[in-house]
This record gives sequence, structure tokens and C-alpha cells, in this order.
Amino acid sequence: MTTVSPFTVEGRSSECGARYGQLSTLHGTVQTPVFMPVGTQATVKAMSPENLIDAGAQIILGNTYHLFIRPGHELIRSLGGLHRFMHWDRPILTDSGGFQIFSLQELAEISEEGAAFRSHLDGSRLYLSPEDAVHIQEALGADIMMALDTCIPYPADYDTARRATALTARWARRCRNVQKNSTGQHLFGIVQGGMFPDLRLEAIEQLMETGFDGYALGGLSVGEPKELMYEILEATTAHLPEDHARYLMGVGTPEDLVEGVYHGLDMFDCVMPTRNARNGMLFTSRGRVVIKNACFQQDHRPVDENCECYTCRHYSRAYLRHLFQSREILAYQLNSIHNIHYYCTLMKEMRTAIREDRFLAFRRAFYQQRA
Ligand code: GUN
Ligand code: ZN
Repeated sequence: MTTVSPFTVEGRSSECGARYGQLSTLHGTVQTPVFMPVGTQATVKAMSPENLIDAGAQIILGNTYHLFIRPGHELIRSLGGLHRFMHWDRPILTDSGGFQIFSLQELAEISEEGAAFRSHLDGSRLYLSPEDAVHIQEALGADIMMALDTCIPYPADYDTARRATALTARWARRCRNVQKNSTGQHLFGIVQGGMFPDLRLEAIEQLMETGFDGYALGGLSVGEPKELMYEILEATTAHLPEDHARYLMGVGTPEDLVEGVYHGLDMFDCVMPTRNARNGMLFTSRGRVVIKNACFQQDHRPVDENCECYTCRHYSRAYLRHLFQSREILAYQLNSIHNIHYYCTLMKEMRTAIREDRFLAFRRAFYQQRA
């Protein structure tokens, strides 16, 4: 099936797979490659929407699984949708719930029909079919909905991976079939296949036959060695449709983002910048900083001398260390602002480097700075 793509490639690197472009949604246009901060429970932890915009966020991610369990998608619908509920008027992508069901419990029961699982809050029995996942994401008002998938654990044998991959493709088609055409919401398919390139290529073909508004690589960064993830990116990315957005789910470190863009991926999400911020780990152009270290006790410099974020413009490492050691709430906010700014700035620098066709030089300098 052919679909009109909401994504436009604006330019390509002449040296590698990297490209930059625009993804249009109901809440505006996103410049890619883009990083999406994770806002699992209708909030990016410790950040207000104004903090997010200041830090350069264009689009955030929400979770169907969590919002379905609490406070419920019908409540959010009745309060005007997720954007209004959380006071965020830029694009939102919601994950479908598949991955969360698998990662939050081993006891999920998967059948052809859907996934039976227990609430992580009160243990009550719940059920999610591919159709439910779409209806919930429609109720939330997501700009980009993700098809329900089954995540393959690592390691997995070929036959397990093959069956889960085929089921994911059938679920994806069911998602596409029940999606309302009138809402303008996009639906992305998710490529599974474990660490088996032939299964991944087959999954891509099946998803393309159904036709989606964008394509995601799932089931990576699930405990496999980094080299293996990069091998899968190398073997699969170029087979994803050129003219659609390509999203690498749940990845990753700043290095992973540079490698993902190098291979031709456009969208990324990860809890790392916000989670690490709350644990006192800050990302800088020269590598990672553990703010509680005694060496920062009297350090009057900002976290990153090259950073223009609110935190670096106003506060010293000594102050951030003090806040963190004292477990002050502001520590989580200031650290999160810096890390999200770092991730968003990295993406912006990559967009510029691709536009000026100097992405490989950018990549070299990125690694040299941290050596
Ligand atoms: N987030 C990170 N990896 C995955 C995945 O494989 N599937 C889904 N739905 N979400 C993810
Ligand atoms: Zn900063």
C-alpha cells in the first residue's frame, strides 16, 4: 500500500546515510534528526513544558501503558486530550504499551488476540489488544501513535524471534485497519526481528505492505552488546523506506545518537538524559560528569563551559553538587534541564552538519572531544 508520507527529506550527507528533514504533525513540524524526551506519566520528570521548550525540545514521548492504567485515557479525553491535560502544545508521540508490558513484568500472556497482563500499581488483570492500543492513543490525542508490538528478549533463539516478529506484523496490520482516517493522527509500524537481520528485513517488507506513516526499529538496546546493535542498524536502516521517518526506539547514549544518525535514522527517545540527571550524572561535550564528586566542591565553573542552558548560564558545579548532596528538589530540575539541553543541542548540531555536508567531520570531532 502506498501512503502519503508526513516526512520530507530536506538533504542528505554525501558521505554516509545521514539525512535531515521535516515531519509534519497536527501540532506542528518537527526538524529531524530529533531527540524526544520521555514523559511517561504525562510529565517529563522534573521539567515544566516551559523548561522543555527552553531546553530545545520539539516533541515528547508519552506512554499508553501508564496513562491507560492511571489516570485512564477516557479521563484524559474528557479533559481535552493529553496536550491540554499536561499543557504541552507541541507534538506528542505515544508508545503503544507493548514494550512496557514486557519490561515491567515477566507474567504477561501473549496470544494472537492481544496481551493479558497485571497492573504494576494494584495487580489487577488488564488486557490490551492491537485495536485497544489504537483506540487509547486516539483518545489521548497523540500526534504519532505506535502500533502494538511484542518485544523479543535478548538473547532469543531464532524460532522464538521468528514467531514474535510475525505476530508483531499481524498486530500492526490490525492497528492500521482500525485507525480512524479522519483524525490526522499518524501511525508508525515497529520492526522487530531480534538480532536476526533476515527476520528484520522480512518484518520491514510486511510492514511496508500494510503501509505506515513512519517506521520504527524496536527491540534494540535490550541488553545486547553495542557492536551487535550497530550491526543491526547497519543491516536494516537502509532497507527502511527512504521517504518515511525512521525511528530508533529507546536509544540511547550521545554516542548511540551519533551512530544512529550516521546510519540514516531520524527520531530517537530515551530516559537516559532525565534519569541520569536525577542520579547526578550530567552529559557534557567532553564526556560525563558525576556531580557529587568531591572535586567539584569549590568549582565555580558551569557544568559545561560550552553549554548555553539555563543551568549553565546561572549555576556553578559547586552549587549543583551542594543541591544534589542535600537532595534538594531543584537539583533534579536543574540537572534535567542541562541534560535535555545537551541532547537537543547535539541533534541540532547534527542537523546543521548534515545540511552543510560535513557530518563525518562532525562525528570525528565529537569523538575526539571526549577522548
Ligand atoms: N521502546 C524501546 N524499545 C521498544 C520496542 O521494541 N517496542 C516498543 N513499543 N517500545 C520500545
Ligand atoms: Zn548546561
